[in-house]
Amino acid sequence: MKDKLIIFDTTLRDGEQSPGASMTRDEKIRIAKALERLKVDIIEAGFPAASIGDFEAVQAVAKVIKESTICALARALDKDIDRAGEAIKLANSSRIHTFIATSPIHMQLKLQMQPEQVIEHAVRAVKRARNYTDNVEFSPEDAGRSDEDFLCRILEAVIDAGATTLNIPDTVGYSIPQQFGATIANLMQRIPNSDKAIFSVHCHNDLGLAVANSLAAVMNGARQVECTINGLGERAGNASLEEVVMAVRTRQDIFECDTRLDTPEIVTCSKLVSSITGFPVQPNKAIVGANAFAHEAGIHQDGVLKNPETYEIMKAEDVGWATNRMVLGKHSGRNAFKSRMTTLGFEFQSEQELNETFFRFKQLADKKHEIFDEDLQTLISEVNIHPETEQIELVSLQVQSETGEVPKAHVTLRIENEEISGNAEGSGVVDASLKAIESIVQTKATLELYSVNNITCGTDAQGEVTVRLEKGGRIVNGLGADTDIVIASAKAYINAANRLQVPDKRRHPQGNV
Ligand code: KIV
Ligand code: ZN
Repeated sequence: MKDKLIIFDTTLRDGEQSPGASMTRDEKIRIAKALERLKVDIIEAGFPAASIGDFEAVQAVAKVIKESTICALARALDKDIDRAGEAIKLANSSRIHTFIATSPIHMQLKLQMQPEQVIEHAVRAVKRARNYTDNVEFSPEDAGRSDEDFLCRILEAVIDAGATTLNIPDTVGYSIPQQFGATIANLMQRIPNSDKAIFSVHCHNDLGLAVANSLAAVMNGARQVECTINGLGERAGNASLEEVVMAVRTRQDIFECDTRLDTPEIVTCSKLVSSITGFPVQPNKAIVGANAFAHEAGIHQDGVLKNPETYEIMKAEDVGWATNRMVLGKHSGRNAFKSRMTTLGFEFQSEQELNETFFRFKQLADKKHEIFDEDLQTLISEVNIHPETEQIELVSLQVQSETGEVPKAHVTLRIENEEISGNAEGSGVVDASLKAIESIVQTKATLELYSVNNITCGTDAQGEVTVRLEKGGRIVNGLGADTDIVIASAKAYINAANRLQVPDKRRHPQGNV
């Protein structure tokens, strides 16, 4: 009988810390539901003390999710623990995750505390968290650069105080697999009461080693991995959930444990996270990249046709890449549409929402005859793009492009019920369109990224555009999709401009304690 490897997903918390990836409460609920269908054990839903929005999002997720444990992050401070405890009150199963830094550099410069004070804070926080739930996780932040003897002392003390999971974070992605694995083995061996807690790891990807470090830890006794969908997260991101899970599942000859994840849900979840956050998935990304199961070289194709196992170590269907993905068309009715959306995990909140989405589906089907799951996912995101905050809407866009002439755009927007038009010229029609929009909305932000991805194949495919704007240190991503990439670009820019209008009340969770 194999051990259980617990999957702790932190897409909604650490993932959200990626610049521009902040999510609304409703978006978090949609992702949480997809994670629940994936059978993730624990969902870290946010950091309730960071802002009212974060608090409410964790609370809302705690209310709707029944099958996964809902976790809230808290610094080792009474007020943070109380906020976290309050936010997860309604969860079927809850956890508080509290942390304090333990590396010399963090203790001296960030916390300005002596090691003994850090232990006192940690113990106090764990005891306080136990008043809200008996499922308490403790993390010594920057463990990857902490002294092993000190880690042993603080971890022994927090287990005595009631911590049930000890998470070892490689906060700055500094570790190397062999060494990180050995650290986990040493801690488990040296801490006298280590058998009373589950060891977990949380690896960042600064050196591209987050998954490798996590797997090395699992081979040395860790039984929980913290990870995110598509490897989203601070800086270079966290360990990617799909890579960790599929490595363990595929190499059962090596691992003494397995997860309970329903892996065919992986691709749907990945696409949902990508479309909500505006972080595209690179085509060659393992497991969820568009090319992850594509064979270009003739010799590979020939082998795969004879027997897929010649070049494939996993089946595309096992992670949710459907073989026949054409699902709906122009003549599909409301029921077929609704039922496919339900299969994709989308529940309509009202008849009006169903009607509006169905109307958009029909519009799309008129332009594009074959509608794939990916198109439906995009449709969901479009209908749900911050509905409560969209003050700027695209009314119409005209562009003019001719060989030897300067491209021009004329755009009309509706802003708080008033229609305003603007014109601009640019180096191409996309450039002219975005300039025309900017002449009206005047964000005065810097365009940091513009990227186009085709959602499905063919020249009639929808293009999904991501636009990243930066203003005064704040970064937002905007998304837009259309069969016409100029319109998709305009929608993406408007979406980003709308997001910039919402005040940013978020603070960085790893700030001062
Ligand atoms: O990277 C980190 O150290 C964290 C902790 C809060 C676990 O995200
Ligand atoms: Zn982290």
